[in-house]
Amino acid sequence: MPSTRSIEVLASAPDLFHAAAEEFVRAARTAIGAQGRFAVALSGGSTPKALYSLLATNYADFVWNRVFLFFGDERHVPPTDADSNYRMVNESLLTKIQIPAENVFRVQAENPDAAAAASEYEAQLRRFFELRSADRSGDRSGDRPGEFPRFDLILLGLGPDGHTTSLFPDSPALEEQSRLVVANWVAKFNAHRITFTFPVLNRAAEIIFLASGADKADMVRQVLEGKNTPPLPSQRVQPSDGKLLWMLDEAAAAKLTR
Ligand code: 6PG
Repeated sequence: MPSTRSIEVLASAPDLFHAAAEEFVRAARTAIGAQGRFAVALSGGSTPKALYSLLATNYADFVWNRVFLFFGDERHVPPTDADSNYRMVNESLLTKIQIPAENVFRVQAENPDAAAAASEYEAQLRRFFELRSADRSGDRSGDRPGEFPRFDLILLGLGPDGHTTSLFPDSPALEEQSRLVVANWVAKFNAHRITFTFPVLNRAAEIIFLASGADKADMVRQVLEGKNTPPLPSQRVQPSDGKLLWMLDEAAAAKLTR
């Protein structure tokens, strides 16, 4: 599947979330039709909450038992914490739909050791996608890179500094090329975040960036039209064999030269 990038602009935030819910369900139906399951990674932050609520109300009777939910990143806090992405998704979606608990793959971010939480989550991904781990046998001939998962869909948000998931500018995880999930130290938060790496993002069959509101307009223009050196993290999301769809409302798209 050749890589494509497209931008969809909706008149208002409610229109944006309706269109995003329809695209989510369209991608789910395609994956379930093709392979019997839909593996999707959800984004955190505040923007997607309205989408998750809409999925819960308008698609309550969807075949959620064929949907497998992961998290593209997580804050290093327990699932009960107000900052927890899992808590946001649980309150806006999971508690309102019939999805088997074993279909929801949560980052164990309550683990005080962020690196251990990241390794544990990577192990969850490797088990679910039945991936071979990297072989570090030490004798050059035996070294084999690990395999990477191919999500059917990854939802992403856009941070004010151009970050996405928890891949922040000038942070160590930007250059990770073999791990699937890492604990990324984010100096401005004086904390770790547990996040997917670019190799995982860029192997997805489909990526949806969701951005809403005037406060995103500058960064949307910078990411979609700007030449940044180094590129902003969101500019490094380039699926090698997949679809990249930016879904925006008019306010977020206001500064694009169209
Ligand atoms: C997180 C997200 C992060 C988010 C952006 C946008 O855990 O915070 O994964 O990448 O998508 O920061 O956040 P808002 O939607 O709140 O603007």
